[in-house]
Amino acid sequence: MPVIPGLATEICPAGEASVASAARVLATGGLVAFPTETVYGLGADATNPAAVARIYEAKGRPAFNPLISHVADLAAARRIGVFDTTATALAAAFWPGPLTLVLPKTWDCAVSDLATSGLDTIAIRVPSHPVARAILTTFGRPVVAPSANISGHVSPTTAAHVQSDLVGRIEMIVDGGPVAVGVESTVVGCFDTPMLLRPGGVPRERIEAVLGCALAQPPRNAETDSAQPLAPGMLTSHYAPRARVRLEASAVEAGEVLLAFGPALPAGAAHAAAVMNLSTRGDLAEAATHLFGYLRALDATAARTIAVMPIPNEGLGEAINDRLRRAAVGRE
Ligand code: TXA
Ligand code: MG
Repeated sequence: MPVIPGLATEICPAGEASVASAARVLATGGLVAFPTETVYGLGADATNPAAVARIYEAKGRPAFNPLISHVADLAAARRIGVFDTTATALAAAFWPGPLTLVLPKTWDCAVSDLATSGLDTIAIRVPSHPVARAILTTFGRPVVAPSANISGHVSPTTAAHVQSDLVGRIEMIVDGGPVAVGVESTVVGCFDTPMLLRPGGVPRERIEAVLGCALAQPPRNAETDSAQPLAPGMLTSHYAPRARVRLEASAVEAGEVLLAFGPALPAGAAHAAAVMNLSTRGDLAEAATHLFGYLRALDATAARTIAVMPIPNEGLGEAINDRLRRAAVGRE
């Protein structure tokens, strides 16, 4: 993964000037990391194949992963995706916000085939973060944006995380402070039966309440333990930190650090080299905002294993547990 020699990464506080400059960088095929309400995204002009290719290069990302196209509003989304009644209802309920819809592409969809990995479907999201919205509105074209980390690292929830992964590889980072949600968007495939392709920032239960029916589970590929080809980006090891991750820990073993949840700590916690609590009051939304940052911080302690307390699998807990399971599988 080469750092482009001489590429200076400009780091700017969010504001009118940096939004205008981000739109200019995107228009010339450059890469801009910017805050969304879920995680920081690494943006490129979705209609420019050379710019999209640079995303894969900067992240060291397998080129078969299709990307999400971010747009400012529903009108812009309708120019690239075909909305059926399910998609229309979900967009009305959750946009702008942390929901991505996978839809058939329109016949004249301007997003490059590289961004959709040549699929005839496209993933679309209207983010709610004011800085993301300002950049999308000013730029006026769809922006593809995977999370702004090196492939396989945990997703960035602050500009400092982005900086530590991508400085020297991208043109610009817009710093809008820590994000509000902390896990990526929920991805729903609007197929004959609506399908939960990735749990995320909108809990499954809220989506099912709008649809009036259960979301289908994607069929899993036993070999890769992923949902290919419906959600080809769901590499099992996507979120792996360097340390081993041990889930459902009911006690802390010697030499482990602890990722805790809730008021009651497990046996051995007092001897842990480090303890970070996702939410001492057991609040899942608070836990989501801390998840990736605490994984990074515990990984940086050089402990061999991160023990993780059980997290309830309801609401945002489904997305948190999904990311933790991926972290626990480790990198190939
Ligand atoms: O919250 C988020 O969604 C963040 C922020 C930056 O917006 N972005 C993000 O992008 O997480 P990324 O590239 O890490 O995740 C894209 C997900 C992957 O699971 C990918 O497989 C799925 O969307 N996806 C994209 N296009 C698809 C398609 N045509 N069919 C099925 N899944 C698709
Ligand atoms: Mg990612």
